[in-house]
Amino acid sequence: MSQALLRRMALKAYATGYEHVARPLTFRHTAQASHERMLALLRWLDVQEWAVATLEVMNRAFFPQASTHVGGVTLPHPLILSAGLVKGDGFTDEEAAVCAAHRRNIIPGWRSVPALVGPVEFGSFTRWPRAGNLGEVLWRDEGTQSTQNRIGLKNPGIRAAAQFLGVWRAQLPSVFGINIAPSPGADDETARKEILEALALLFDAGVQPAWLTLNLSCPNTEDDAGARQTEAAARLLAGQVVDFLSPRKTPLWIKIAPDLSDEQYRALLRVFADTGVSAVIATNTLPRPVPNHASVTAGAGGGWLRPYSLRIVKLLAEERTRHGYPVDIVASGGVLSSRHLHQFREAGAQAFQYWSALVYRGPLAAALLHAEASYEEGHHDNTGA
Ligand SMILES: Cc1cc2nc3c(=O)[nH]c(=O)nc-3n(C[C@H](O)[C@H](O)[C@H](O)COP(=O)(O)O)c2cc1C
Repeated sequence: MSQALLRRMALKAYATGYEHVARPLTFRHTAQASHERMLALLRWLDVQEWAVATLEVMNRAFFPQASTHVGGVTLPHPLILSAGLVKGDGFTDEEAAVCAAHRRNIIPGWRSVPALVGPVEFGSFTRWPRAGNLGEVLWRDEGTQSTQNRIGLKNPGIRAAAQFLGVWRAQLPSVFGINIAPSPGADDETARKEILEALALLFDAGVQPAWLTLNLSCPNTEDDAGARQTEAAARLLAGQVVDFLSPRKTPLWIKIAPDLSDEQYRALLRVFADTGVSAVIATNTLPRPVPNHASVTAGAGGGWLRPYSLRIVKLLAEERTRHGYPVDIVASGGVLSSRHLHQFREAGAQAFQYWSALVYRGPLAAALLHAEASYEEGHHDNTGA
């Protein structure tokens, strides 16, 4: 029996087990309770050598090598776990965060998650620590396979994150991204200064990501994400960040929102091409009222987001072709099955980020999507031949 066939059978058994046993058990708890349990488990797994070794073996068994070059980076396969899972604990104070970074695991999942799934985008990190929003901040909608969050950029701040990752750099995965977001509420000049400071702290700590993502689109804070994504603000910021990253041979990716005007998307892509941004991630979550509180909004991902992100990927790809812009497109928003993977690829994406798929298809979601897509493509080829 071929290795590919064995892998497909094992993944089929996993998919059935996840759908009929693990997912119903997980969904007996709220999205928030499940998320907190998952973080506790990751915190523990990170320091168990046997567990990390087992996850690495599972990675080799379940993920075929499908080397993909995107946004200046060579990935082992085109599915990246997007920012928001491996982002670290929230703090209110930088000194406390730095102190904790030298005593305990402040970024749960930093080792175990990439060991299992391969490419991961860590963060978002901001220049200063953030405690995030209080109360209920996570929801799921099973019917549409959607997630919703208003975590509010909870993170330990870049100084503590960089020191923590720097101490453990020998154990960091060979390919990972770091996502940095401007401090919510900061004016453009302060935001630029803080982002450059954040980058310096990261590289000075000896942390060398394969790509750096600027998250200009967090909808769950006091920030006005739309205003960060104007042509003038984006040009200045992207230009200065590319100048910093180029000598360090690190490509810049930029993550954008799903609710801008078509003109704004065209202008942003032009700016990205002009300033040397290597890839655009389309898109972040879409603000929507949360269940039972029409006046509170939170970022929706998964099924709710897909029509928006798909349309924007198409728009960006058409614009890229029209002008010959050398900017890759990474799809993010409701990639939950091989059909969606195919739709985003047809629309013009070179790689795919996923978060909600973890919830609805489990920890091996990316392997599953990849195997299903490869099987369908092979099947098409055979029937077409
Ligand atoms: C709990 C949670 C936290 C997130 N935190 C971040 C974040 O810190 N930075 C970011 O750029 N995106 C964040 N996101 C957005 C995801 O990275 C992703 O872009 C979005 O969920 C759409 O993908 P999906 O449809 O596959 O879920 C978060 C998403 C979730 C569900």
